[in-house]
Amino acid sequence: MSVVKINVLTVPDEQRETLEKRFASRAHAVESSDGFEWFELLRPVEGTESYLVYTRWRDEESFQAWMEGPMKAAHRGGGEEGERPARPAASGSTLWSFEVVQQAAPKGGA
Ligand code: HEM
Repeated sequence: MSVVKINVLTVPDEQRETLEKRFASRAHAVESSDGFEWFELLRPVEGTESYLVYTRWRDEESFQAWMEGPMKAAHRGGGEEGERPARPAASGSTLWSFEVVQQAAPKGGA
């Protein structure tokens, strides 16, 4: 069963552009991680002010393996507060975890 891990980022209005630029030049390491299935950066439009970093993984183990290794490199500094760039774009973050219980894709198509 796939798992969904969403990192919820609190981003001050004036930091939105910086955040999106940083994601535009992200490491792209996650795509090569075993068990990685999907990534989306979601910009808030209505109902919340938080950006969501949506990721989906084959299983919990795949996510944990990414967190312990490639994730740190992808975040350019080990994920430690002090090693992050001087002006982090996000002022806070929370990790949400889900199990996929049902899913659907469009019928037919090529
Ligand atoms: C301390 C909390 C975190 C903050 C502030 C944060 C913020 C960011 C930012 C700004 C980037 C763009 C690249 C960079 O400049 O580093 C990034 C990349 C990314 N983040 Fe986070 N992040 C955090 C933790 C997490 C966690 C727990 C996840 C798990 C879902 C996650 C998922 C990702 C993914 C998948 C990428 C793209 C990596 C790649 O392209 O290889 N982040 N994050």
